[in-house]
Amino acid sequence: MQVTVFISGRGSNLSALLQTQSSNAYTIAHVISDNSSAAGLEIAHQHGINNSFINWKNKSQAEQMAAKIIDDSQAEIIVLAGFMRILSADFVKQFHRRIINIHPSLLPLYRGLNTHQRAIDDGQKQHGASVHLVDHLLDNGTVLSQTKLDIQATDDAQQLAQRLLPQEHRLLCQTLHWIGTKQLSWNEQTVNFDGQTLHQPLQIL
Ligand code: GRF
Repeated sequence: MQVTVFISGRGSNLSALLQTQSSNAYTIAHVISDNSSAAGLEIAHQHGINNSFINWKNKSQAEQMAAKIIDDSQAEIIVLAGFMRILSADFVKQFHRRIINIHPSLLPLYRGLNTHQRAIDDGQKQHGASVHLVDHLLDNGTVLSQTKLDIQATDDAQQLAQRLLPQEHRLLCQTLHWIGTKQLSWNEQTVNFDGQTLHQPLQIL
């Protein structure tokens, strides 16, 4: 399964996807960044993966360019991995139910930014990350899979984020693999895994 990955920065999720793609059921066809100095673009370059910086100042033009890349590379799935822009409703509609996002919280808790600090401030016992389908609202859309970890009394936001990150990487790689093998699939009503309807997101350690 060909995928296009959208990034804005560091690219550690992209790196995890690239390191595992040879043993998984996906191939990264193209990496798109809205930030010309994103470290993730260099990672793509080092792996010999097609990559493009698209200036997002003119959003509709940027989305048109991105759409052409997706179509040309015959990508079935678009992965938002630390992509810091909100896609327009038109773009989301054009790629209906083909865009997934990795978000560092146990959605529906903590949409948006500073998720780690907000979880600590609220005295949560657990935190985690979610992979979800993208709709036109921020960090909304059906949650496909999650990974959880306990918050330690001594955790600050940075420590929590650091402990979560390797789990986040496994979550994204495993979820995308299952989409590639068609074990994980969805329609307008349900999400299915191995032919069974899921009533809660898949849990990945
Ligand atoms: C990750 O924490 C991801 O969950 C969030 O943004 C961060 C991106 O990190 N959406 P990286 O660029 O993949 O290292």
